[in-house]
Amino acid sequence: MDKNKKSARLTIGDENYELPLFTPTAGPEVIDIRKLYSRAGVFTYDPGFTSTAACDSTITFIDGSKGELLHRGYPIDQLASKSHFLEVCSLLIDGKLPNHEELKAFKGTITRHTMLHEQMVNFFRGFRRDAHPMAIMVGVVGAMSAFYHDSTDINDERQREIASHRLIAKMPTIAAWAYKYSIGQPFIYPRNDLDYAANFIHMCFAVPAEEYVVDPILRRAMDRILILHADHEQNASTSTVRLASSSGANPFACIAAGIACLWGPAHGGANQACLEMLKHIGHVERIPEFINRAKDKNDPFRLMGFGHRVYKNFDPRALVMKQSADEVLDLLGIEDNPLLQIAKELESIALQDDYFVKKKLFPNVDFYSGIILEAMGFPTSMFTPIFALSRTVGWISQWKEMIADPQNKIGRPRQLYLGETERDYVDIKYR
Ligand code: CMC
Repeated sequence: MDKNKKSARLTIGDENYELPLFTPTAGPEVIDIRKLYSRAGVFTYDPGFTSTAACDSTITFIDGSKGELLHRGYPIDQLASKSHFLEVCSLLIDGKLPNHEELKAFKGTITRHTMLHEQMVNFFRGFRRDAHPMAIMVGVVGAMSAFYHDSTDINDERQREIASHRLIAKMPTIAAWAYKYSIGQPFIYPRNDLDYAANFIHMCFAVPAEEYVVDPILRRAMDRILILHADHEQNASTSTVRLASSSGANPFACIAAGIACLWGPAHGGANQACLEMLKHIGHVERIPEFINRAKDKNDPFRLMGFGHRVYKNFDPRALVMKQSADEVLDLLGIEDNPLLQIAKELESIALQDDYFVKKKLFPNVDFYSGIILEAMGFPTSMFTPIFALSRTVGWISQWKEMIADPQNKIGRPRQLYLGETERDYVDIKYR
């Protein structure tokens, strides 16, 4: 081993093993255990990946104790206040802020891919009329591989690029149509004269019978929601996309897998679950009852929108989202929203409660996003689809990074087996 390189020493019985130690540009050092099994014959055990770096990446960095989130080095609060979603998409995918020409070209490409293949309408119509929009999104995005054969070869860089553009461009149309279908309204086609956020709002709320003008307040709020959810390092859905694509699966199938993972209430589904919880609490007087339930080990109830695996002081996205919620409600003239009152009271009680303080549990991004989305007129069932729409660019950036990496290997974790050892089959009459 190179003497100048750092290493970690592992002792198992009488044997010592030197393991390389990598120093990242930011974050904790990483022990390279790739050769551990072949050299020492042991596995490491880390369910939930609490201490495992599954890949190297240059896209997003989170410092959980400082409450820091950087995309390609740029702090999330600066991006949320100074940038806009398509510029952030370009940054995440290409690794640098685009200049005028590059941004114009990127916007043009995304804008001109917003329509869906017309036969995809039949796919939507195959769902039950009351299907959850997330169920429709998982199905329709997976089905894109049946419509766009010319962008499924992952070994062709140009095809990968086209697939990326198609996914970012078409996801608002898919999410909006999933919503329209679930409420029985006609699909509204994309409009290329509107920007990304405004076009999405228009496709959700316009009807063919009358003109619908997108409110600039709502457009800005939506754009900010999209920026705040754009990427988040190796979270569950991103890791799902990476694992799915490690087998060589096509990009549409991989993103569909990511959408499925995001749906769970511990991840992207928390925004819907949080708003439903606020409605269920119903009145500020009932908050202590729910705080006690959240603290009770024998009760599976958790305060939705609270806690995070990585952030242990505050969620920087939640700070921006909270400001945005105040702004939007103020501008829309909804200051005395009862849900907002419950949310504010719940937040202040929980932030002072010993249980939540000791366990470092505080509101995450999903605590506030639902309040804004509800104020904008979205039903709770659309909260997670909007998260999926925003996160698509993060999934794609991570997917592209992974495919281009020569070290890319199929993901194949091992296990700590605790089942029966070999035993003989017993005929049914003797059992
Ligand atoms: N309410 C009450 N107790 C909680 C909560 C909560 N929301 N979250 C964690 N705890 C407790 C938990 O019971 C455990 O206690 P103990 O050590 O006594 O067993 C301790 O805190 C640590 O919890 P954990 O489940 O081991 O932590 P984790 O890192 O595995 O889970 C989490 C992180 C986000 C899944 C979890 O905090 C949670 O379920 N929160 C509610 C769902 C939610 O808001 N999810 C959105 C996350 S942000 C958006 C995204 O990135 O998807």
